[in-house]
Amino acid sequence: MKILDMPPFAPVLMESTRAMGYSLESAIADIIDNSIAANASNVDIQFSPYDAVPFISILDDGDGMTKEQINDAMRYGSQSSLNIRDSKDLGRFGLGLKTASLSQCRCLTVITKQGRRIEARRWDLDEIYEKGTWALLSLNSEEIHAIPQFQTQLKSLKSGTLVLWEKLDRMLNGAKATDKLMSRQMEYVREHLALVFHRYLAGETGVTKLTIQMNGMKINPKDPFLMGRSTVFQADEKFIIEGYPVEVSSFMLPHVSNLTKKEKAALGGTEGLTKDQGFYIYRNKRLLVWGTWFRMHRKDELSKLARIRVDVPNALDHLWTLDIRKSTAVPPDVIKSNLARIVDRIAEGSKRAWTFRGKREISDNGSHLWSKTKVRDGVVYNLNRDHVLLQLLEETLNQEQKKLLENYLRLAEGNLPLNQLYVDLNNEEQVNIRKEKDAEIQAMETVETILANISESPMRDAQIRLMMQTDPFCNYRKIVDMLTKELSS
Ligand SMILES: Nc1ncnc2c1ncn2[C@@H]1O[C@H](COP(=O)(O)OP(=O)(O)OP(=O)(O)O)[C@@H](O)[C@H]1O
Ligand SMILES: [Mg+2]
Repeated sequence: MKILDMPPFAPVLMESTRAMGYSLESAIADIIDNSIAANASNVDIQFSPYDAVPFISILDDGDGMTKEQINDAMRYGSQSSLNIRDSKDLGRFGLGLKTASLSQCRCLTVITKQGRRIEARRWDLDEIYEKGTWALLSLNSEEIHAIPQFQTQLKSLKSGTLVLWEKLDRMLNGAKATDKLMSRQMEYVREHLALVFHRYLAGETGVTKLTIQMNGMKINPKDPFLMGRSTVFQADEKFIIEGYPVEVSSFMLPHVSNLTKKEKAALGGTEGLTKDQGFYIYRNKRLLVWGTWFRMHRKDELSKLARIRVDVPNALDHLWTLDIRKSTAVPPDVIKSNLARIVDRIAEGSKRAWTFRGKREISDNGSHLWSKTKVRDGVVYNLNRDHVLLQLLEETLNQEQKKLLENYLRLAEGNLPLNQLYVDLNNEEQVNIRKEKDAEIQAMETVETILANISESPMRDAQIRLMMQTDPFCNYRKIVDMLTKELSS
C-alpha cells in the first residue's frame, strides 16, 4: 500500500470555510476570545465605510506573538482541539482567527508586536486564487508601516495584536447605503459583545477586567440577571463532573411591574423577557448559549422571570458538543439530569411570583372588596357583600333600592372585562393605574363620611375596628393611625 499525501486545495477549502455561518457579531466575538486568552485588558474596535478601503479592525494590548507564534496562528488548525488548554483560554479548534475573519472579509491581516519586534501576516483570498496554493503573505517593515491602522493604533503599544479585515464583501457587496448599513450592523455587534462578555466588562472577581471600545465609545456590560435587583432563587450549587466543577445559580428577575422602563428595555421588552428565559451557559465566564431550556421546559409566561446561570470550565468542552463558532452547545446527560431538578423548582417558584400579587388581595384575614370562590369548573370572583362600605350604604336603602343595587352588583361581577384584562396584563400594561396620592385622599374622605354616619351607632367601635382591616383603608398608615385615635376617643 502506498500513502498519498492529499492536502486540500487551498482556494476551495478557504472559500468553503467562509460558509460556516458566522454572523458579524459572533465573528468579532471570536476574535476577542483570542485577545482575552492573550491577557489583554483593552480591546479597541474600529470600523469605517468611508476610508478608501473600508475596514474593520480589532486591536488588543495583550501579549502579542513571536514570529513562530504568528506563523502558527495563521495556519488552519493551529492547535488541536484535543490539546489541553490553559484554563483561561477561550479557544478550542485552532481555527477561529481564520474562519471568523474570512467569513466576513476576503483579506485578513494580522500584525503583532512584542516590544520592538513587529510581525505581520496576511491571507488574501484573491491572491490564493491566483497562486492556487496556501500562500501566506509575510509583510516587511515598510509594508507594515504603510498600514494606517498600524500607525494609529498598534504602533504606540508595548505589546499587542491588530486584526484587520478588508475587502468586506459579505457586508458591503451589493449594498447601497454602506455607511448606514455598517453602523446598523455594528450596533448589533455592540449589543452582542455587551452581553457575551458582560462578566469581563464588569470585572468580576476571577477575571481580568476588560474594556472594549467601538470607534472610541466604551461598551457597557449588559447583565441578563439584573444582579442585585433579582432574587437569588437558589444559592450556588456545584456538581463535580470528571473532577471539574460545574456551578449553577438560579435567579428570578423582579416582577415586571417592578422593572423600570430602562431595565425592561435592556431585557428586550416583553418579547425579550419571554424569549430569553432559561439557561445561560458560560464557558470560562464567556456567555456561549442563552435563552433556552434545552427542551426540559416550555418557554411560558409563568417562567419568564427565571434565568439560570451555569458556569462550565473549558476542560469539559468534549462533553458539550461545542461547535466551531462556539454558538451552540448541548449539555451532556450527566449535567442535564442535575439541571432538570433545578428547572422543576424554578418553574414552581416562578408561578408563585406571578400569582402572589393576585392572591394577596383576597386571601388574608382582612375584609376585601373582592372574594374568590372555587367552584367545580373554575373560580368565581364576587364583590364582598360584607364590605363595610356596602353595608353602610345598604342601611340607608329601602327594599326596592336594595334590590336594584344587588342587581347592579351582579351585573358588574358577571361582566368583568376579562379578555381585555388578559391582553393588557400579557402586554405588561400597568392596569388600573391611579395616582397613589389621589387614592389616599379619596379613601380618607370615605372614612370621614363613614365616621360621621356611625357617630351615634352603638356598633361604632366594632365598625371602626372592621374598617382598620378593610381595603382600601388598611393600606394607608395615616388612615389606620387616625382610626386608632378615634377608637380611644
Ligand atoms: N490576539 C491574539 N494575541 C495573541 N495570540 C493570538 C491572538 N489571536 C490568535 N492568537 C494565537 O493564534 C492561535 C490561533 O487562534 P485561533 O483563533 O485561530 O484558534 P484558537 O483560539 O486556538 O481556537 P478557536 O478556533 O477555538 O478560536 C491562538 O491559539 C493563539 O495562540
Ligand atoms: Mg480563537
